[in-house]
Amino acid sequence: MTTIAFDQIKGFVFDLDGVITDTSLYHTKAWRQLAEKLGVTWTKTLEDGLKGISRMDSLEMILKAGNKENDYTQDEKVALATEKNTNYVNAIHQMTPANILPGIKAFLDDLRANGYLIALASASKNGPTVLKQLELTDYFPKIVDPATLSKGKPDPEIYVKGAEALDLDPTQCIGVEDAAAGIQAINGANETSIGIGDPDTLSAADIHFNDTSEMTLANIAKAMA
Ligand code: BG6
Ligand code: MG
Repeated sequence: MTTIAFDQIKGFVFDLDGVITDTSLYHTKAWRQLAEKLGVTWTKTLEDGLKGISRMDSLEMILKAGNKENDYTQDEKVALATEKNTNYVNAIHQMTPANILPGIKAFLDDLRANGYLIALASASKNGPTVLKQLELTDYFPKIVDPATLSKGKPDPEIYVKGAEALDLDPTQCIGVEDAAAGIQAINGANETSIGIGDPDTLSAADIHFNDTSEMTLANIAKAMA
């Protein structure tokens, strides 16, 4: 639990999938299709565990769930991940600004109007494409490139780099996530964490909202008072 005061906060570092927009539906559909093709049983636990996890780490988790982690060469694994990504990219090209989650556009406008700095810390290499589809590119001048990371979420690296991109100390940043792995990453980076979604999954978050429409500066200030 951070003890930082709200007026110390200068920047927000956002996850994308499940926070800005509900791409998790498309990620899930594409992974599930691949898993079932490989003979791996799809479960809710597997589905939730994949949230926030990088593409190759996700594939490893799926193969492990089916005891198949040693059945493929590295080249074959890359081909499987590419197959999933092709399906995913086809799906996201149908997205429009109507796919922005409730309240997010207003919240971003409010952040801008109040001079907060904004960065994106998504594990997705498709982040810039998704932002373009949503017409939100201009709101995110700073994007941590997931290709530069040595470790994915739950490692704090991506949130540490998010604060660096904003030229802020991590304690001056709030990180926003929908996944347990992401909350762990924010907390490990020493930022204040906001978890959006299931309260049990996100029990480690400093601040919890049930859905994106509850995330306002007034509600955050209240939670940190
Ligand atoms: C995260 C998603 O944001 O990005 C994961 O929550 C996804 O589900 C990961 O696997 C990597 O995305 P991509 O688009 O690079 O395969
Ligand atoms: Mg997410």
